[in-house]
Amino acid sequence: MKPETLNDVIRVRLSRRAVLKGTLGVAATAFVGTGRSLEAAATPLVGFTPVPISRQDTVVVPPGYVTEMLFAWGDPVSAAPQFRSDASNSAADQALQAGMHHDGMHLFPLPKGSDSSSHGLLALNHEYTDDGLLHESGMEPWTAEKVAKSKAAHGVSIIEVRRDGGRWAVVRPSRYARRITGDTPMYFSGPAAGHALLRTAADPAGRTVLGTLNNCAHGVTPWGTYLTCEENWGGYFVNSGTATALHRRYNVDPKGWGYRWHEFDPRFDAGLHPNEPNRFGWVVEIDPFDPTRPPVKRTALGRMAHEGAMLALAPDHRVVYYMGDDGLTGFEHVYKFVSARPFTPGAGSDVNRHVLDHGTLYAAKFSEDGSGEWIELIQGRNSLTPDRGFASQADVVINARGAADLVGATYMDRPEWIALHPVTQEVYCTLTNNARRGEPGQRGPDRANPRTKNLMGHIIRWREVGSDPTATRFEWDIFLLAGDPAHTDPNHRGSMKDGPAFACPDGLWFDPRGVLWIQTDSAARNMASADWANIGNNQMLAADPTTGEVRRFLTGPRGCEVTGMIATRDLTSLFVNIQHPGEPPKAHPPRNDPRDPTAVSAWPDGPSGGRPRSATIVIRRADGGVIGT
Ligand code: FEO
Ligand code: CA
Ligand code: CA
Ligand code: CA
Repeated sequence: MKPETLNDVIRVRLSRRAVLKGTLGVAATAFVGTGRSLEAAATPLVGFTPVPISRQDTVVVPPGYVTEMLFAWGDPVSAAPQFRSDASNSAADQALQAGMHHDGMHLFPLPKGSDSSSHGLLALNHEYTDDGLLHESGMEPWTAEKVAKSKAAHGVSIIEVRRDGGRWAVVRPSRYARRITGDTPMYFSGPAAGHALLRTAADPAGRTVLGTLNNCAHGVTPWGTYLTCEENWGGYFVNSGTATALHRRYNVDPKGWGYRWHEFDPRFDAGLHPNEPNRFGWVVEIDPFDPTRPPVKRTALGRMAHEGAMLALAPDHRVVYYMGDDGLTGFEHVYKFVSARPFTPGAGSDVNRHVLDHGTLYAAKFSEDGSGEWIELIQGRNSLTPDRGFASQADVVINARGAADLVGATYMDRPEWIALHPVTQEVYCTLTNNARRGEPGQRGPDRANPRTKNLMGHIIRWREVGSDPTATRFEWDIFLLAGDPAHTDPNHRGSMKDGPAFACPDGLWFDPRGVLWIQTDSAARNMASADWANIGNNQMLAADPTTGEVRRFLTGPRGCEVTGMIATRDLTSLFVNIQHPGEPPKAHPPRNDPRDPTAVSAWPDGPSGGRPRSATIVIRRADGGVIGT
């Protein structure tokens, strides 16, 4: 199917559903409860005044919008301890405070199951750390206490938030407040639990593990739990021994990325503990309403550099998750999980706890003719046989990448977030960039990944046959190519005519009105170069998928990535994460110099504040209206 055709299909379908006559308006009204009239549904979906590109060290939003600071690195999740701006808080303090590098998040209304837009639990990921900023003296000298603090600054925060009058604030103390870190005990469930490849000296049963790492994007379940996704966890390990094929396929390299945890916690040396890396790369389920319930790594969803897990519901209440593998070396796959059993509506974790443990994992094949196929990753089928190293379904999920390779899944340009259109059920996926595409010795372009040396990224979308998320066939096209629409080089030129310049789409979310929100993550080292001249700081945009219009809604401070967003049910408050303000233009992972921590950015506290901090902000309209209209 040609790209225009899928566009037309969406347009026709939307008009069939009488979007302009109000069906979508009614759906949105029911969802957001704003009493939006049928006539109002005929007004443009996106209505704010766009903001220009920015190189300022601040957050810029459209006229008529206000931003508030909610929760920055080091802020306590409950009553104490307070953040010290010289970063002198201990590891024990850090385990009770916001971690670093805020990423994916979700808001669970309180009371549980309500539609409250003024009270809830915010669950958010802390993807990684800048150890130059994290410790008072940076990484010199390197100590066991610093390793403990670094692990404590990873993971997830659960905070209680409430709106009193106009402003949102963290409720302190809160009985829900919780930190989950790189050392929190948790369990395995699903086909790999107890498998020999998950067993270690500390856990001979292969059923318990300490911590979750590199928590990037996220997902939710219909029974009210949070899914945090382990992305580029390979970089925390070194390997003083012989790398296995599994280590190599999962980027567990001899030197790692310089976190130096192994110097005081030997489990991060894959040479000494070859199975410890197999215990990361999973989707982890957390019940935000019960701080006593341990997280569970759900192995049926496969092991990879999980970006996120986007929920779709089948008509029979089976749950479906779309998942991208954003291994930083690129050329990984898109996956889908379909549960074997339906979930039980109205019931909580106790009844639904095993839904994610049984089901079918698929990998996506995007064919050149615009058709696509979900290929089963089931042991014994599609060449996944013992002679190929797949003796059980545990082998398949532990080496999901190897299984997807074998069945002919397409190698993508770094799949990041995936979003589901609330009405059409079309699925959109950011492919953030892949500078190695088409380079000597690497895979060349294909129709789904059309750019050689893809620096700017693109967004692909697909539609399942019959709009059924459990279907095994789909049609796909490219929604947009990112870049500067005015760039002379087509490889860097954005495809949105008269649209805004932006690069490296990453965060992606449909609000209930059908606005596609896009967040960007172009590396600081790139933004200094000429190709990025008209792009500026990372940003957040709103797209109307029907018309293809894209408008710039927000620009972030210097050196930040904008990632993570969720709105209240009434769409009057939008929570957004600003990750790593002040990221220096160096190799991954970038680290600031503790002697000059505000060299790039002093956001949000200003030059006298000490250090830049990742933070959750809240955006509202001054008149209390619906965001984005
Ligand atoms: Fe953590 Fe793929 O972004
Ligand atoms: Ca991301
Ligand atoms: Ca990214
Ligand atoms: Ca990031």
